[in-house]
Amino acid sequence: MIITTVKELREYLDLQRRSGKTIGFVPTMGFLHEGHLSLIRRAKAENDIVVVSDFVNPTQFGPNEDFESYPRDIRRDEELATGAGADLIFYPSVEEIYPRGSSTFVEVTGDITRILCGASRPTHFKGVTTVVTILFNIVQPQKAYFGQKDAQQAAVLMKMVADLHMNIELVVCPIVREPDGLAMSSRNTYLSPEERAQAIILNRALLEAKAAFETGEDDVEQLTRLITGKISEAPLASIDYVSIYAYPSLEPTETVKGKALAAVAVRFGKTRLIDNIILEK
Ligand code: PAJ
Repeated sequence: MIITTVKELREYLDLQRRSGKTIGFVPTMGFLHEGHLSLIRRAKAENDIVVVSDFVNPTQFGPNEDFESYPRDIRRDEELATGAGADLIFYPSVEEIYPRGSSTFVEVTGDITRILCGASRPTHFKGVTTVVTILFNIVQPQKAYFGQKDAQQAAVLMKMVADLHMNIELVVCPIVREPDGLAMSSRNTYLSPEERAQAIILNRALLEAKAAFETGEDDVEQLTRLITGKISEAPLASIDYVSIYAYPSLEPTETVKGKALAAVAVRFGKTRLIDNIILEK
């Protein structure tokens, strides 16, 4: 079932809540793939009612980014989401989420939103935290599900929920990959066949770093160099960043002690791909 207005969604969910049902929420920008479906399945296993939002959020796109061209297919999304256990799909218009005159933003400040993707996308996380807060206020779930694919997004949202004392449990789920290792992403559809073939380099490079770490290399500079070198083997790859931070704090570190996040962002033509791996002793 697709619901497009806040009013209808609230009426439906109020009824469910009154009969004691728990609500799990999976926010998405649509064009669903197995990564999204894994979150929906997990949510269905842990809640009575699962709400999936399908909303390409304009405030998290920069002026020269792909808001207009972002892939959209609500009919296909409805079928896939329902098949994975979604009870309803919230598919609002931009005006429904941001009515005329709306001017309130939620921003997590500090390095956590400045490093990694925040460096090349300075307004991105402000858009994410704003829309997720709006959606949380509309859906009022007990639990909400996010992917480790967007590790920094998950970390920023965890901080937002803690800082604002939001009464919602965030569940972070593993990265789902194509058989050749490419992390699933709605943006993979932009890749030309040549770019698609070379895009496996992100996962390959991260796996090499993990192997090096597991055989004793714990120097962040060396590990970073190894990943950068490997990615540079792909002629169409242009590196945005290769970074390693302590995890989950995302604080800078010179050696990997305990857990670390190795994260990369790489452009193939107009497509920017991200991937990451946890290094853990
Ligand atoms: P979107 O890119 O559609 O992703 C929705 C959710 O699916 C996110 O939590 C993301 O981390 C997760 N996801 C995407 N690809 C995945 C994969 N390969 N494996 C596991 N999980 C994956 O992230 C957003 O939308 C938006 O920023 C949003 C949170 C909806 C706010 O607009």
